[in-house]
Amino acid sequence: MYSLLGVHDLTKLFIHEVVQKGDLLVDATVGNGHDTLFLFKLAQDLDCRLIGFDIQEEALKIAQTKIGSNGFVEWILDSHEKFDEYPQIRDVGLFIYNLGYLPTKSKHITTMAESTLHSVEKALNRVRVGGGLAITCYSGHPEGKREILALEEFTKRLDPRAFSVSWTCWVNRQECPRVLLIKKMKNL
Ligand SMILES: C[S@@+](CC[C@H](N)C(=O)[O-])C[C@H]1O[C@@H](n2cnc3c(N)ncnc32)[C@H](O)[C@@H]1O
Repeated sequence: MYSLLGVHDLTKLFIHEVVQKGDLLVDATVGNGHDTLFLFKLAQDLDCRLIGFDIQEEALKIAQTKIGSNGFVEWILDSHEKFDEYPQIRDVGLFIYNLGYLPTKSKHITTMAESTLHSVEKALNRVRVGGGLAITCYSGHPEGKREILALEEFTKRLDPRAFSVSWTCWVNRQECPRVLLIKKMKNL
């Protein structure tokens, strides 16, 4: 059934499955704020808190313009690799990543395999049981290919008692996007 869905449909389905009332939601790559805006609306309905990370000030400003100033959104101009430096990031219901670069901006400011992997490892420690990570990857550029390889190797080794892991790819699309979904089943 999942193979009939688009990238965003699948991600939204997963988000609705894992997010609970009162959760903390983290957008690890705010970018133009499309995902943040989606989470923001959900957060309003479910009384959740929302944190958005990006290394580009411009990205955070674009997203803030879309959403407006609101007390329950915390904007962090920093790398998602540093999740562990933010004590408020704990018992998270959902981490969302949309990897790569801002479509209309410099392709040199992109997520990188090594820092993405570090970030995901830290996120797995901070997600609550029943919560998860939704990560969209793109193989249409060299760093994106490296990210996919690194994440595939890493996720293959995750303990199946603790994490349910699935990869879906859209093989006939130009950038061949892949969605990685990880749900935490229990703490070991
Ligand atoms: C493909 S865009 C995200 C699109 C976004 N989710 C949206 O809905 O528009 C990727 C974003 O990741 C950001 N980024 C790159 N490396 C990062 C890092 N280490 N930590 C946080 N954000 C990063 C880039 O600045 C860029 O804005």
